[in-house]
Amino acid sequence: MQITRIPYNALMPNRIVFGDNLETLRTLPSDSVPLIYIDPPFNTGKIQSRKQLRTIRSQDGDRTGFQGARYKTEVLGEKSYNDIFADYLGFLQPRLEEAKRVLTPDGSLYFHIDYREVHYCKILLDEIFGRASFLNEIIWAYDYGARSKVKWPAKHDNILWYAKDPENYVFNYEQLDRIPYMAPGLVGPEKAALGKTPTDTWWHTIVSPNGREKTGYPTQKPLGIIKRIITASSRPGDLVMDFFAGSGTLGEAALMLGRRFLLIDNNPEAMDVMAKRFAQYPDVQFENYAPTVELSHQYALV
Ligand SMILES: C[S@@+](CC[C@H](N)C(=O)[O-])C[C@H]1O[C@@H](n2cnc3c(N)ncnc32)[C@H](O)[C@@H]1O
Repeated sequence: MQITRIPYNALMPNRIVFGDNLETLRTLPSDSVPLIYIDPPFNTGKIQSRKQLRTIRSQDGDRTGFQGARYKTEVLGEKSYNDIFADYLGFLQPRLEEAKRVLTPDGSLYFHIDYREVHYCKILLDEIFGRASFLNEIIWAYDYGARSKVKWPAKHDNILWYAKDPENYVFNYEQLDRIPYMAPGLVGPEKAALGKTPTDTWWHTIVSPNGREKTGYPTQKPLGIIKRIITASSRPGDLVMDFFAGSGTLGEAALMLGRRFLLIDNNPEAMDVMAKRFAQYPDVQFENYAPTVELSHQYALV
C-alpha cells in the first residue's frame, strides 16, 4: 500500500480522521506530536454501549415524579463499540510503537486504562519506551455507580505517563490547577487560599449521565481530567493527539486550552458524536467521513 506522509505545520486545521488508527499513525512524520493521550478499549470482554433516553410526562408512564406526576422513558437510540480482544497486547503493541515514533523528542504519552489490564500494559510500555521513561501512574478516583458486596468496589482508572526522553520533557508546574488543603486550619490563611499541588491521585467525578458535558457516547471521559493532562504536558499552540478518540474529549479540551488536535476513531457512531460536538467550532476538518447529522457549521471535508 502507498503511504502518504503528511507534514505538520502551524496552519494545519484540527483534524478528525475516520479509520483504523494504525493506518493513519503510519502516515505521520516521526518526532511531530508533542502530546498523545489515549484511552483505548479496556478489553472488558463486552460490547460497550449507552442508551440515549428521554423522559416525558405521560398518564400511562411507569415512573412517578415531582407532585405525583407520571413519566415514561423513551429510548432515542444507542451508541456502542466492541471491547473484546483475543490478543489485546498484540493489538496495542504496533500502535504504541508508532506512538513513540511520532512523539517529539520532548513528547509525552498518557495511556488511560483500568485495573484489569494495567499491569500487562505497564510491562508492554516499559519494553517500548524503556523503564526509565515511566514517570507516573495517575490514579483517577471517582465515586459513582453500584458497589459490589463481594469484593472492594473498583472506583478508579489508571493513567500511565511516559516521556519519550525522561531527561527532557514538558511539565508546566506553574500552570497546574491547585487543590484545597484537607485541613486548611493547619496551614494558615495564605497557604490555604493558594491551595496545594495535585498529587498522582486525582479525585474527579465521572461525566454525569445528566450533565452538560454528556455526549451519549459510552465510556466518555471528563474534560477536567484531560484538561489537566494537556495543561501539564503541552504548550499553547502544540498539536495533541488521541487515536482512540471516541466522543472527542481530547479535542474539546484542546480547543479550550489553545492547542491543535488530531483525533482518530474507526467507529462511525463516534464520528457522528464528534460531528455534533464540534459543530460550533470552525477550523475542524473531517477525513474519510461526511457527517450524517444536521450541523450548524459547514465542515471542510477531505
Ligand atoms: C474508550 S473509547 C474512547 C473514549 C474517549 N476517551 C471519550 O472521552 O469519549 C475507545 C475508542 O477507541 C475506538 N477504537 C477501537 N479500536 C480502534 C482502532 N483500531 N482505530 C481507531 N479507533 C479505535 C473505539 O471505536 C472507541 O470509540
